[in-house]
Amino acid sequence: MDIYQVRAEKVVKRIEELALITEEEGCITRTFGTKPFLEGSKKVFDWMLEAGLLTTIDNIGNVRGKLLSDNPQAKTFVIGSHIDTVVNAGKFDGPLGVLMGLDLLENLIQSKAKLPFHIELIAFSDEEGVRFHTTYLGSKVVAGLFESNKLDEKDCHGISLKEVINEMGGNYHLLPEDKIAEWLGYFEIHIEQGPVLYEKNIPVAVVTGIAGQQRAEITFTGVAGHAGTVPMDMRQDALATAAEFVLETEKLALEQKDKIVATIGKLEVIQSASNVIPGKVVCTLDVRCAEIDVLNAAYNSIKETCYSVAEKRNVDVKWNLVQGTNPTKCDETLTNALKEAISQSGHPVIELVSGAGHDGVPISAVSPISMLFVRCFKGISHNPLENAETKDIAAAIEVSDKFLEEVISNRL
Ligand code: GLV
Ligand code: MN
Ligand code: MN
Repeated sequence: MDIYQVRAEKVVKRIEELALITEEEGCITRTFGTKPFLEGSKKVFDWMLEAGLLTTIDNIGNVRGKLLSDNPQAKTFVIGSHIDTVVNAGKFDGPLGVLMGLDLLENLIQSKAKLPFHIELIAFSDEEGVRFHTTYLGSKVVAGLFESNKLDEKDCHGISLKEVINEMGGNYHLLPEDKIAEWLGYFEIHIEQGPVLYEKNIPVAVVTGIAGQQRAEITFTGVAGHAGTVPMDMRQDALATAAEFVLETEKLALEQKDKIVATIGKLEVIQSASNVIPGKVVCTLDVRCAEIDVLNAAYNSIKETCYSVAEKRNVDVKWNLVQGTNPTKCDETLTNALKEAISQSGHPVIELVSGAGHDGVPISAVSPISMLFVRCFKGISHNPLENAETKDIAAAIEVSDKFLEEVISNRL
């Protein structure tokens, strides 16, 4: 059998094994710092150790395996992706990049490749930002960009990030020591999470950039009241206000649908009951765009609309910007090497801008970054139906091997 196919099958077997570890029976949920998350990290740690990597878990819970160069002064080339998931996730978003990275390093070890620089494989601990609604906790630490004011943020159970770090066995005072000082570059393999490759029937694509995003948490406070006695035109209904805001946001995004996407993915009616007029609603907003000016303008106009809807309905608004990241560009030299590897492997070169966020975003502030996308079934992601075919993973392994050979021989 084709050697890439054999390697891809091993990658898929590990992905399947990791997917069995979950917070909730019958689905895949492994959010940052939970017991199943730690169990999954331990599995990845053991795999890295077995492969012969110098393996550690850092203070934010990243699992890190090093393959050292003989030159102790050498810089570090990082291969990574994440092992946390959204709620009721698919198997491939994150783990594919980590476990393909492990396969690439196993191959380098087996071929006794001489390394002019260190290579570090990192399974980032929090890319999705589900628990604290702020993404990239793991990669920000490694990039030295972690904002310590985040330590007092609380999850929905009132547990602070500080406490989660302690529970995981980390020491939050030592987070600055986990940064990589001398970066050579960064490479991530990820499923596309969109339909382009599936529609074009092509296994891989090169990523040229990653869309910027703004995330906010919005609290509508009206007046809770009796559902049977308060006349319809005398209410200050927080949920009806939020509902109008949701539809207005969709309308605004549709007006520029070629450039922006906007999502209200979470909406919570506080102390809700069927016979109580909703007094308080908390919701999230996620707006994305590849162009910074368009992103900022869309975000501002959604915010203005929110305030005017609330004013009309006599409801109070508290708007909290939780996270903002600018659009990110992939490095030209690494991206050209990746294009060459795709071409040498016999595939057409497709360039894509990622609408999804990736750990390369914070890392791009301190290192050149590169990304390879792998086709996924109908572009479905953040959904249990997420799937990537083993033959496409095999194709991506061939491309990545060639890319790494080039990076190693020319120290790109
Ligand atoms: C991560 O998957 C994101 O783009 O939200
Ligand atoms: Mn994701
Ligand atoms: Mn991801």
